[in-house]
Amino acid sequence: MIEITSLDMIVPAAGIGKRMKSVVPKQYLKIFDRTVLEHTVNTLLSSHYCNRVIVAVRDDDPYFGKLGICQNPRVKVVTGGAERVDSVLSGLREAKTEWVLVHDAARPCLTQTDLNVLIEKSLQVDGGILGCAVRDTMKRTDERNGIIHTVERKLMFHALTPQMFRREQLIKAVIKALEDGVSVTDESSAMEYSGYKPLLVEGRADNIKITQPADLKMAEFIISSMVEG
Ligand code: C5P
Repeated sequence: MIEITSLDMIVPAAGIGKRMKSVVPKQYLKIFDRTVLEHTVNTLLSSHYCNRVIVAVRDDDPYFGKLGICQNPRVKVVTGGAERVDSVLSGLREAKTEWVLVHDAARPCLTQTDLNVLIEKSLQVDGGILGCAVRDTMKRTDERNGIIHTVERKLMFHALTPQMFRREQLIKAVIKALEDGVSVTDESSAMEYSGYKPLLVEGRADNIKITQPADLKMAEFIISSMVEG
């Protein structure tokens, strides 16, 4: 374990999860006896690198205040925004530590091992993200799904979370990208736009993001079969 000041960990949880087709936003659906968000936050709180978990929720969120984690003194709630990046920025403004980590509320299957490896590797460079290698043959299509060509799969990765960077560098990078009208779908994209070269740390492919109804069953299976040392 590398000796560092512990990290503030930001969890954007202000989405409505339209593709889930559920009245309750996906982060508040249950896997066994806990919500998706509680699984996610508890994993982060269990890390020996965690200082606080900062959760960004919608200003009219009626769910978060009813969860046990909201009483935890190491959990801080902030108001999220219209887009994921706005929610992350709100969390970044509350964060106090030199390094911060951002992890989607909708990824409850993160393991301690992946979390710790990401932190230890990112610290040695300008920051990093968890990713997993693309397995299938990749096609580029036109707007009518006509295949134009096959994309070289080698060196292609799915970008996952957590993503970890120095707080001040990330805030500046996000603000710059937003001012320039660049789409910020993850923290790394903002850092890349500012000229940084984040490290891609290969993690488990089962660190899935719950997006569609079937993903909830999949997450239940993954969590129930997790055996960690
Ligand atoms: O919708 P999607 O799955 O891409 O969202 C990724 C994460 O960003 C989720 O945890 C979601 O709650 C969060 N989010 C947010 N604020 C928004 C939109 C999404 O915190 N306005």
